[in-house]
Amino acid sequence: MTSDPSLAESPILVERDGPIAILTVNRPAVLNALNEATLAALDAAMAALDADAEVRAIVVIGAGEKAFVAGADINELARATASAGTGRMMAEHGQRVFDRIERASKPVIAAINGYCLGGGCELALACTFRFAAETAQIGQPEINLGAIPGYGGSQRLPRLVGRDRALDLILTGRRVPAAEALAIGLVTRVYPAASLRAEAIGFARELAGKAPAAIRCALDAVRVGLDVPLPQGQAHEAALFGLLAATEDMREGTRAFLEKRAAHFTGR
Ligand code: COA
Repeated sequence: MTSDPSLAESPILVERDGPIAILTVNRPAVLNALNEATLAALDAAMAALDADAEVRAIVVIGAGEKAFVAGADINELARATASAGTGRMMAEHGQRVFDRIERASKPVIAAINGYCLGGGCELALACTFRFAAETAQIGQPEINLGAIPGYGGSQRLPRLVGRDRALDLILTGRRVPAAEALAIGLVTRVYPAASLRAEAIGFARELAGKAPAAIRCALDAVRVGLDVPLPQGQAHEAALFGLLAATEDMREGTRAFLEKRAAHFTGR
């Protein structure tokens, strides 16, 4: 595992563990609330990791034992209340940062290690997968601030859990515990808090062993397909399948099966 200790005060820490990158939101004194500087650092880190072919999967977690991310920084939100223009720009900035995560060419796993609220929930929603600690609490409490989710939550949450469940969370602002989040499909796996990080990294490592082009195309096929009519989605799927058919990894994967041996993918 490698990390740069000189960055210990940085709001976003990046560690490498072989092909896995672990990205830690690092403002534990304010439960890892996302101010503009943290969002900008997150965006820069994600851009670099997405462009790095050696990185095959990314885990996002919060510093400390209490929180994943407890939301947008309410100090900054309070300063934005006087201006419609400022509020809109804040929302658009957060949306751009989280869109980059959703469009990443490799899987991004949110390891939800505690409070996951507001912008924290929206960050998790933009990730490919959400794993939660048994102690996690997840919600969109913006309504209690006289606001609504502004970083894509009002759009991604209903797509994930359905309109009624999303509106239940957004209109009441209530926090759901991990078990309920699992039951409604808001997270896909729940672990004891002590093993969450290792489990997320283990899953990331499993995905890192697959052919990277196939992973990239699968992510793209599902993401694009959910936003377009079925025939268009199928056309996109066929085009991606064609791209993969020309890769050495697909040749290797199919031959390895026929030769009854494990495939060795090289990323070509
Ligand atoms: N923005 C800025 N600061 C925040 C924050 C946020 N979203 N969430 C927590 N903090 C700060 C608190 O102000 C407190 O700072 P202080 O020690 O200087 O007083 C510190 O983090 C610890 O939080 P605290 O509220 O004392 O912890 P708690 O265990 O009593 O409660 C929460 C935890 C998560 C329930 C509570 O902090 C909370 O409701 N946070 C806001 C959640 C929210 O509305 N998020 C959506 C924002 S859009």
